[in-house]
Amino acid sequence: DKGGHKHFMAKEIAEQPTVIGEALAHYIKGGDIVLPTQLDFARLDRIVMVACGTAFYACLTAKYWFEQVAGIPVEVDIASEFRYREPPIGPNTLAVFVSQSGETADTLAALRYCADKAQIAAVTNVDTSSIAREADVNLPIRAGAEIGVASTKAFTCQLTVLALTALKAAHARGRMDDDTLADHLAELQSLPGRLNHALGQADEIAAAARAVAEAQDVLFLGRGRMYPLALEGALKLKEISYIHAEGYASGELKHGPIALIDKTVPVIVMAPRDALFDKTVSNMQEVMARGGKVLLITDREGAAAAEEGTWRTLVMPECPALFEPILYALPAQLLAYHAAVAKGTDVDQPRNLAKSVTVE
Ligand code: F6R
Repeated sequence: DKGGHKHFMAKEIAEQPTVIGEALAHYIKGGDIVLPTQLDFARLDRIVMVACGTAFYACLTAKYWFEQVAGIPVEVDIASEFRYREPPIGPNTLAVFVSQSGETADTLAALRYCADKAQIAAVTNVDTSSIAREADVNLPIRAGAEIGVASTKAFTCQLTVLALTALKAAHARGRMDDDTLADHLAELQSLPGRLNHALGQADEIAAAARAVAEAQDVLFLGRGRMYPLALEGALKLKEISYIHAEGYASGELKHGPIALIDKTVPVIVMAPRDALFDKTVSNMQEVMARGGKVLLITDREGAAAAEEGTWRTLVMPECPALFEPILYALPAQLLAYHAAVAKGTDVDQPRNLAKSVTVE
């Protein structure tokens, strides 16, 4: 049942305020974050996070949270690399496996490699899945069934659960006092409303997507917390619209990808106004000086400061800085969706892709 939408993907994008609200309600009780008591954050030396595809990008985003908020070093790896590299794993490591389906073959094999070496947590959307069952602790993302092959609501629910876990770890390690935790929880609880505002901009995003759909190649740029989202935006666009897209850290532009820039290559810059905004603006100027077309996705202040000379600017609602990756996932998903619709591809069942990759 597509609930009145043309595609499951559209329905699943639209459901995000609701399912994120439900995920928050599942974990936040009496002003505290309730996680399984076996998770002992106090004695951890490091976290290793392993996943594939979009779930891998959720892990890359969470690295910023765990390191900046909880002060725990985090290593993130692609499951098919991790499992064959056989990295050393110490006893004070928490190994986190993120998988919507809970059945991805490489992620499951990586989990089995860590069994008996580290404490194992799973972040999955299917409680009865192999990855959920074989972990010491399963943290459900509560996204509900995701039918569209391109992951959307599972990604933002993964981010939500990982953000909660990082806040809990920060509090448990004495890096965050009760008041700050309460502030962050209030910010998280305000997210569904902000996501609804972002969804309210679907028409402008769709118009931008139709223009992007004319391109053969697209670059996504992001810095800091927005860098993993640049990778995710590029993956989403290529998998459903078949437009070649690549994501880069903004600071990497001049180390290679700038050679691709000409007037045919849209450069999608995801940059809310933050401490690093001016650096990203100079990257944008380098693109524009070479005739490149910049699609800037930012907030009101960012638009006021940097809109001039851009090809298009999309203005997102205000959002607490820490949780901006969750909000900015929506325009990335909607751009991909509407570009695919404009190209007439099979949005929910893109060619060559399977929803659950149970063979390597
Ligand atoms: C992208 C996508 C894939 C999956 C990847 C991992 O939209 O859906 O990249 O994220 O195959 O799948 P799970 O999360 O089920 O392990």
